[in-house]
Amino acid sequence: MPENTLTITDNRTNKTYTVPVENGTIRAMDLRQIKTGSDDFGLMTYDPAFMNTASCKSAITYIDGDKGILRYRGYPIEVLAERCTFLEVAYLLMFGELPTEKELKSWVYDITHHTMLHETTKKFMEGFRYSAHPMSMFVSTIAALSSVYPDAKLVHSPVDRTHQIVRLIGKVPSIAAMSYRHNVGFPYVYPDNDLSYTENFMNMLWKMVEPKYVANPAIARALDILFILHADHEQNCSTNAMRSVSSSQADPYLSVASAASALAGPLHGGANEEVLKMLDEIGSKDHVPAYIERVKRGEFRLMGFGHRVYKNHDPRAKIIKRVADEVFDVTGKNPLIDIAVELERIALQDDYFVTRKLYPNVDFYSGIIYEAMKFPMDIFPVLFAIGRTPGWLAQWQEMLLDKEQRIARPRQIYFGPSKRDYVPIEKRS
Ligand SMILES: CC(C)(COP(=O)(O)OP(=O)(O)OC[C@H]1O[C@@H](n2cnc3c(N)ncnc32)[C@H](O)[C@@H]1OP(=O)(O)O)[C@@H](O)C(=O)NCCC(=O)NCCS
Repeated sequence: MPENTLTITDNRTNKTYTVPVENGTIRAMDLRQIKTGSDDFGLMTYDPAFMNTASCKSAITYIDGDKGILRYRGYPIEVLAERCTFLEVAYLLMFGELPTEKELKSWVYDITHHTMLHETTKKFMEGFRYSAHPMSMFVSTIAALSSVYPDAKLVHSPVDRTHQIVRLIGKVPSIAAMSYRHNVGFPYVYPDNDLSYTENFMNMLWKMVEPKYVANPAIARALDILFILHADHEQNCSTNAMRSVSSSQADPYLSVASAASALAGPLHGGANEEVLKMLDEIGSKDHVPAYIERVKRGEFRLMGFGHRVYKNHDPRAKIIKRVADEVFDVTGKNPLIDIAVELERIALQDDYFVTRKLYPNVDFYSGIIYEAMKFPMDIFPVLFAIGRTPGWLAQWQEMLLDKEQRIARPRQIYFGPSKRDYVPIEKRS
């Protein structure tokens, strides 16, 4: 029997099959040959929520959840967060290599010169209700860009694809900032091409009447690092949405809008907001032990703790904790940090959390930083979306170039009624 194969005996028929094992997986389609008779469709796998199914081969992001490792294109997240800018990391995700100085200069130039929105897009945004949620505005406006750039349909043209990638990375901060300004009732601010990507985002968020916005460098760097930490996380819910929607060859604006919609849910992009609510509810360090006891009694979960993949530590959480200190040097300390640190200290010594491998995740500290920067909670998922946009686009491009990929179309197990007779409405009881 060749190595790297799996032998399966079907006890229904006593037949034996051998299927190849490659990269620790078997191909689900290899199971289709396993049948009880000629009218049997063939064996399928049942995997709600993709708990044990690889949906693609990818060379973008590597995660080892047991060891707490996250790498983009082979580079550890710790190094990228320390040494790179967000646009450098975006380039790495997109093209597979870190850029040379010349490549970076031209990449930054191109993105900077695509930050402006068409004036009709600005008018479109002005039409939202005064209290519109920034994430709803963000998602809808990204989708609306599909109407502004009909060339985006040419998904098989490398030149057009690159054009849309540059446009999207350039425009997401502008849309995010406008959705924030709309929500707080301030006039929109146009991009300033003299500034870096993140400084310009801050300009569009916070410029008031001063002739030229000057960004605090520590805050700009902290935001840039937060974008890097969120830039990709392999096949998470929103990336899966991106791949699934764009597998129909929908244009990237519609696909990114779908991915951002998936991100909007509280189980994905909204957990850091829940952490803030939890810390507010705890109120002071002295209340932490009693709160932890309630968690252990199963009354509720400790928000920002635990992860489906990371079972040792979330490497992003460590970096964020350091960034928090740098931000507080500028903004003053967010009083919630003391409660968070105490919560982490007690939980990490407690058997309940240790045996279940529950550690702080990326959301545990990010909300505290955003709040210290004076962001309202509503905009947290929009900030996440700015960071994740290059990741979505890199995954989109990789999917389009993967010859094995086709339109995403899972199977189902039908559980409804079998064939029945139609009953006219007057005879229905
Ligand atoms: C992230 C999360 C959804 C992962 O869930 P999961 O991998 O499916 O883990 P499970 O829900 O199977 O939990 C395993 C065990 O740990 C416990 N657990 C998981 N997360 C917990 C938390 N945050 N607080 C307390 N207990 C927790 C569960 O109760 C379960 O205990 P049991 O075996 O006694 O029943 C989960 O840890 C969670 O809800 N965390 C809080 C929300 C959060 O921070 N989300 C952001 C993720 S980046």
